[in-house]
Amino acid sequence: MKVAIIGGGIIGLALGWRLAQRGAETTVFERDAIGRGASYAAAGMLAAGCEAEPGEQALGVLNRESLALWPDFAAELEAATGMEVGLRREGTMLIALNRDDAAKLRHDMEFQKSQGIELEWLTPAEARAREPYLAPQLAGAVFSPDDIQVDNRAATAALAEAFRRAGGMLRERMPVRRIETDGSRARGVVTAEGVHAADVVMLAAGAWSAGFDLPVPLPPVRPIKGQMLSVQMDPEIPLLRHVIWAPRAYLVPRRSGLLVIGATVEERGFDGAMTAGGLYSLLDGAWRALPGIEELAVVETWVGFRPGSRDDAPVLGPSALPGLMFCTGHHRNGILLTPVTAAAMAATILEQKLDPRIAPFGIGRFARVRSAA
Ligand code: FAD
Ligand code: GLY
Repeated sequence: MKVAIIGGGIIGLALGWRLAQRGAETTVFERDAIGRGASYAAAGMLAAGCEAEPGEQALGVLNRESLALWPDFAAELEAATGMEVGLRREGTMLIALNRDDAAKLRHDMEFQKSQGIELEWLTPAEARAREPYLAPQLAGAVFSPDDIQVDNRAATAALAEAFRRAGGMLRERMPVRRIETDGSRARGVVTAEGVHAADVVMLAAGAWSAGFDLPVPLPPVRPIKGQMLSVQMDPEIPLLRHVIWAPRAYLVPRRSGLLVIGATVEERGFDGAMTAGGLYSLLDGAWRALPGIEELAVVETWVGFRPGSRDDAPVLGPSALPGLMFCTGHHRNGILLTPVTAAAMAATILEQKLDPRIAPFGIGRFARVRSAA
């Protein structure tokens, strides 16, 4: 079986790894260097619990399934490559800075607990006992032990290495210009080097996935801009150990002492500008939660584009064109969803049977909504 994957982000690489491990002749085409899209921009939170929202129950199940796979996935990846991926399991604290925030947190917590998510309410004193540098006006917090984090940049680099070691072909700086079809099915991809024939073409081009010209519906994916920055803590005496969700920013401490602060959520197309307003709101939100950041050196600022679909859930599985499949639209949880996406999509391709885990996420759901309207 020959598979051509368009897109060398975390999703394309993880799927490529699983396919190559199972003997498929797999090539990943990346127009840039690998892992410089959303997979570079992300914070790496594996937040199946505290990001769960009403109306997204099917996605919540998939999120939790993927979260459960992450520890073994990370261990397997590290063993396959000798590269660390920075999985940290201290958990996440959602903090309230006034009574209104606290009421909202308690309300969200009731819904999340009803979904079977383990959460614990902490008084301000209990929260500060775990994170002493949090702002003095803390009004309470929710502790989510299962919401952990991974270093997404390290994980993406390790996946590229694991893919190569499993026999996969990685073609960087090789944009796919179009998908080759013969009228009845996809036959491969076209690059500057000509046609690369494949039995299955996998569209995993993140926020750019809707940009191909084809006679069948493409995933309704659009870029959702996110601005981020990082500051450097002293790794010996870090200001934070847990991931923190504050009312207007989240803070993600890496083992190296890097503190990642995010993120804006903006409908601005592929506008890559880091704006004064974006930076201000992130720094203000982070400072209100953790005043000590004002002493820290800024390391980097960056912008990324989440691949957001119309219902915020991924688009996974066959297209209306035989030979073409979709694996995109992971929006705010693509790092979290990587292990389950790769496993379920690889099984679907190789066993030629839709994996039940991804059955709710086919592109057909958008046509059903239109015809029901
Ligand atoms: P990408 O990483 O964008 O990869 C797609 C690749 O396709 C790109 O490298 C691009 O160059 C390539 N490509 C496009 N067109 C072509 C072409 N024609 N030919 C060849 N290659 C092409 N998720 C979490 O789970 N946790 C988080 O904490 C988190 N935080 C985030 C914070 C921000 C600011 C952002 C932007 C995203 C965040 N996400 C998070 C979401 C997550 O990053 C994405 O869902 C995930 O990275 C999507 O992976 P991908 O491989 O589909 O896309
Ligand atoms: N999941 C975090 C973000 O998308 O910003």
